[in-house]
Amino acid sequence: MEQSLRLTVKPQWDEIENARIEVGAYLQSQGLMRDAVHSLTMVISELIENGIKYGSFTGPEDAIAVDIHRNGDTTTVEVINPLNIKDKAARNHLTKLDKTIQWIRGYQDPFEAYVEKLKEVSRRPLKDEESGLGLVRIAYEGKSILDFFVSEEGSLNVSAVSHFRGDNHEKD
Ligand SMILES: Nc1ncnc2c1ncn2[C@@H]1O[C@H](COP(=O)(O)OP(=O)(O)O)[C@@H](O)[C@H]1O
Ligand SMILES: [Mg+2]
Repeated sequence: MEQSLRLTVKPQWDEIENARIEVGAYLQSQGLMRDAVHSLTMVISELIENGIKYGSFTGPEDAIAVDIHRNGDTTTVEVINPLNIKDKAARNHLTKLDKTIQWIRGYQDPFEAYVEKLKEVSRRPLKDEESGLGLVRIAYEGKSILDFFVSEEGSLNVSAVSHFRGDNHEKD
């Protein structure tokens, strides 16, 4: 059976905690095991965090949309933020997003990408605030396949697809 949840999140840090609570309750109601709920909640909060950090917000009506879609064992998470493609910094981040996703895909096992990234981060100065670990954590710990597209209306849609079994299955 198909199920979905849609949330609107204001681009403020304290909104992430509320979203985590709502998402966690929804996933639990879907019969997902605790580990799966934990992993998916991490995936969603990393994506929201990125939406807040890198989205182009201009007015009070600008927000982040979170869509969680469940179909059988497949969970699709989509986080959508406004994107001003005319802004150079926004374009640079989009390029980095693209490159990071391609780079992760280049590994057979996302664990290898995660280890490589950890090594790289440990070589960097401590004051560097952008850890750059979010997307690799989503791929490895969140067992998710990442993708993105830019819509015609100018918003960025980042998705993470994973397969966690719920309790709607007989043990085999
Ligand atoms: N929603 C987004 N919009 C634009 N760029 C993004 C978005 N999410 C990620 N990126 C780009 O991908 C890079 C890697 O993201 P991530 O792994 O989460 O690391 P971090 O958030 O610590 O920089 C970011 O530094 C940013 O340049
Ligand atoms: Mg991040």
